[in-house]
Amino acid sequence: MDAKLSDHQSIAAALLGWYDVHARDLPWRSRPGETADPYRVWLSEIMLQQTTVATVRPRFADFIARWPTVAAMAAAEDADLMSAWAGLGYYARARNLLACARAVVRDHGGAFPHSEEVLRTLPGVGDYTAAAIAAIAFSKRAVVVDGNVERVVARLFAIDTPLPAAKPLIRAAADLITPDDRAGDFAQAMMDLGSSLCGPRATQCLLCPLRAHCRAAAAGTPAAFPVKAGKKAKPHRHGTVFWLERDGHVLLVRRPDKGLLGGMRALPTGPWADGPSGIAGAPLPGIDWQIAPDRITHVFTHFTLELSLASGRAEGHEAPADGEWWAIEALDSAGLPTVFAKAAQVARRK
Ligand code: ADE
Repeated sequence: MDAKLSDHQSIAAALLGWYDVHARDLPWRSRPGETADPYRVWLSEIMLQQTTVATVRPRFADFIARWPTVAAMAAAEDADLMSAWAGLGYYARARNLLACARAVVRDHGGAFPHSEEVLRTLPGVGDYTAAAIAAIAFSKRAVVVDGNVERVVARLFAIDTPLPAAKPLIRAAADLITPDDRAGDFAQAMMDLGSSLCGPRATQCLLCPLRAHCRAAAAGTPAAFPVKAGKKAKPHRHGTVFWLERDGHVLLVRRPDKGLLGGMRALPTGPWADGPSGIAGAPLPGIDWQIAPDRITHVFTHFTLELSLASGRAEGHEAPADGEWWAIEALDSAGLPTVFAKAAQVARRK
């Protein structure tokens, strides 16, 4: 990291020149000369935190059509927003999305704050998101480091400390090359470079605007950066999901507010444990459960869940207090989280 300041400035200039020609046309981006809409920037950044651009594109359009402003989202019903989030990943984010929209309306007069520091006080807005909003929506100089930027910077400076220990070094290097002007474009240009020419495995260094500045390219080993520490396997948990039918309906429950998939409509499950737990925690007594040979596997952020499927019929039974009978034909409109949608698919194939 001993390059001269002028070299850092020419990195930004080369990248911005490339971005002016090759920027991806994404629905949350403003066109040159247009003012950015902070609501769209914030919403896209939250959605993109755990989901790919390809998945977010159509879902972003749905959200904007349904809730065109932060005030509209603040007034949404919790359950509507949670159902709309299905398939977009971790539900804590959807809960924070709503809490953030409400905080902007309640505490900031309906306008997103401009400074990184104040943005960080909003629910679900961490260091990365605060920097991204400040730079992209408000043209503030902010150092924006996501996974793509991390990779590009680690290569540019050939940072060989393994992640995550390299994070502060990468951030310091990103700070060195972030320009005072167009910091938002610079950040998005880094993201675009990281998702095209400077990909995790394949690189196209011959086309790269930063090739002349890149130490990893000069060494001929771009794919060796960033260096990663050995990964720990995710813990594995087991459980049983219950598919209980009555007259063309299936029993759905609402999950407790706190915890994974909190507040979501769901199929009933037993406890999630280190090993299979059979029909412990079944939603009704006296049902003749059939255990399917299939397993439903779903990877959450912190663990992998493997569910057995128990099917039964409940003609003549009332629903338990926290449950409702939902028409099987209309199950798509229940907004089930992906893990339960997968289980329903398996159950309906039987
Ligand atoms: N990933 C996260 N934010 C992004 C953005 N603004 N443009 C492209 N990819 C992104």
